[in-house]
Amino acid sequence: MVGSVLLGRMSACGDWRGLEPVFLSTSQVGAQAPSIGQAVAPVGDAHDLAALASLGVIVSCQGGDYTQRVHPALRAAGWQGIWIDAASTLRMNDSAVIVLDPVNLERVEAAVARGVRDFIGGNCTVSLMLMVLAGPIRQGWIEWISSMTYQAASGAGARHMQELVQQMRAIGGGAGELATEPAASVLELDQRVRDVMASPDFPTSHFGAPLAASLIPWIDSAVAGGQTREEWKAGAEANKILGLDPPLPIDGLCVRVGAMRCHSQGLTIKLKRAVPLDEVEACIRESNPWAKVIENTPEATRRGLTPAAISGSLDVAIGRLRTMKMGPDYLTAFTVGDQLLWGAAEPLRRMLQIALAS
Ligand code: HSE
Repeated sequence: MVGSVLLGRMSACGDWRGLEPVFLSTSQVGAQAPSIGQAVAPVGDAHDLAALASLGVIVSCQGGDYTQRVHPALRAAGWQGIWIDAASTLRMNDSAVIVLDPVNLERVEAAVARGVRDFIGGNCTVSLMLMVLAGPIRQGWIEWISSMTYQAASGAGARHMQELVQQMRAIGGGAGELATEPAASVLELDQRVRDVMASPDFPTSHFGAPLAASLIPWIDSAVAGGQTREEWKAGAEANKILGLDPPLPIDGLCVRVGAMRCHSQGLTIKLKRAVPLDEVEACIRESNPWAKVIENTPEATRRGLTPAAISGSLDVAIGRLRTMKMGPDYLTAFTVGDQLLWGAAEPLRRMLQIALAS
């Protein structure tokens, strides 16, 4: 899925010009290569180390297991090319840089110049948070951040997106005329929906629980201290991306919700001093062209700060920005970003351009 989004973005941006791309797959060897406006050979075998070793740059959207299997073997065989992927396998290695160039271009370019060869896209929630918060973090205004996430089905994978829609369909079918009949009992509607969701036929094999008309406050495996791995990544990766020393404490709960492809986050931000809201907003606006500050009104929020509004867009929206009742040095905010774009494909696409320009 990330690969398809990446191909689409590369075509839309004219990135194929000057490239001699070779497409490799673990499952579609021999298939026709994607149509990119130039002649390309049929899809090759992504396990063919000799084919991989002939390439100057490899961009993998295959996932962590593939990176684990192929990357060490390639490096052991002496491959000196640039490896770009979005898997967590290599992210925290000293030899790898996490790429999110709107916020860490200097670090990426310095790494290219000193011969780093592994460039890895960050975790989607981390990248989407930094697209809006890197400016205030760099100003040194922030003491800590708590991020409570609302993560879309796409973050779990393509089959999960299908399962979410299957669940919606089952609920809609079960509700039947009770969903539309004005005289219907809403308690009866609720009971029917609960019956459908509790039925052994309700499709949950991918999520392990109902997600439609519900949520799942657990993403990825457990790590120490009661955190999930997804929650651990927030602090670990954000600090690595920005090279913060001492590290900025970032923690919170990660929750799967029934959005399709936009991750949202409710943020509590502890400031070191009471920075005026308009300064914070201006800093976010000026930090990169994609960070969009949404006015804290019901109309603007409904129009611009929802997964439905942001899906398919490169904009990362931040709104509901206000000072909290705890004191003038506490801010709250809500962000929404497309998990498949800045959360996955776009940093890889742009890293490829940086690598080619070097
Ligand atoms: N791990 C994320 C999620 C997506 O499950 O939503 C990839 O960064």
